[in-house]
Amino acid sequence: MRKKKNLAPRMEACGMYLIKDPFSMRGRWRELMPAARELRVELGCGKGGFTVGTAEAEPDVLLIAVEKVPDAMVVAMEKARDAGVHNVWFVDGDAALLPDMFAEGEIDRLYINFCDPWPKSNQKKRRLTHGNFLKKYRQVLAEGGAIHFKTDNDKLFEWSLEEIPQFGFRLSEVTRDLHADGAVGVMTDYERKFFSEGKSINRCVATMVDWTEPENDTALSQRISE
Ligand SMILES: C[S@@+](CC[C@H](N)C(=O)[O-])C[C@H]1O[C@@H](n2cnc3c(N)ncnc32)[C@H](O)[C@@H]1O
Repeated sequence: MRKKKNLAPRMEACGMYLIKDPFSMRGRWRELMPAARELRVELGCGKGGFTVGTAEAEPDVLLIAVEKVPDAMVVAMEKARDAGVHNVWFVDGDAALLPDMFAEGEIDRLYINFCDPWPKSNQKKRRLTHGNFLKKYRQVLAEGGAIHFKTDNDKLFEWSLEEIPQFGFRLSEVTRDLHADGAVGVMTDYERKFFSEGKSINRCVATMVDWTEPENDTALSQRISE
């Protein structure tokens, strides 16, 4: 993404939406909104179309958006400010650090929308649906918590449908054409573009179930280390 001019003053102008030290919030996120029905975290919010749309649609939910590129996140923060929503905050950080930012069981739902597909085999570990990430999500999700995953990338989706259940998640609501009968739910910025181009959107929900990591499962360790 091209470097934004005036990033610092723009960030400052919507600083009320920024959590400057997310690590100090570990175990305390609900203090931001004690009456919240649920705490949800969006990984890689980009320019925030989904973030703000969801915050508006469900004002009783506390939403935290994590994004590692501040030039994109500032656009999302400006959208939140312009919409006047009061149930969303932003973290300039990496999804890989989730267990350092959130306590065990603190999150009810994770959103992964149109994450980078990392198509090459030697890039697998960077996919946000890779087993290494799924194990981190297990550390922060509440019992019965779920990942809501959407992507335009058919190969990533099929690969993820195999990967996710191997780490103690039950799949449901699996669709390879979410909007077949007309637009459904809050769309992300990327989704809106793909939808307008006629590209079908994949979606599934992965609910965390009891699971113990197999100690000597050679096939699983092989898969994780690949
Ligand atoms: C393809 S964009 C999709 C943005 C948005 N979710 C949408 O659907 O419009 C992926 C976004 O995820 C962010 N991202 C990728 N890996 C990340 C990570 N490990 N932690 C936080 N954000 C990440 C990227 O910077 C980028 O903004």
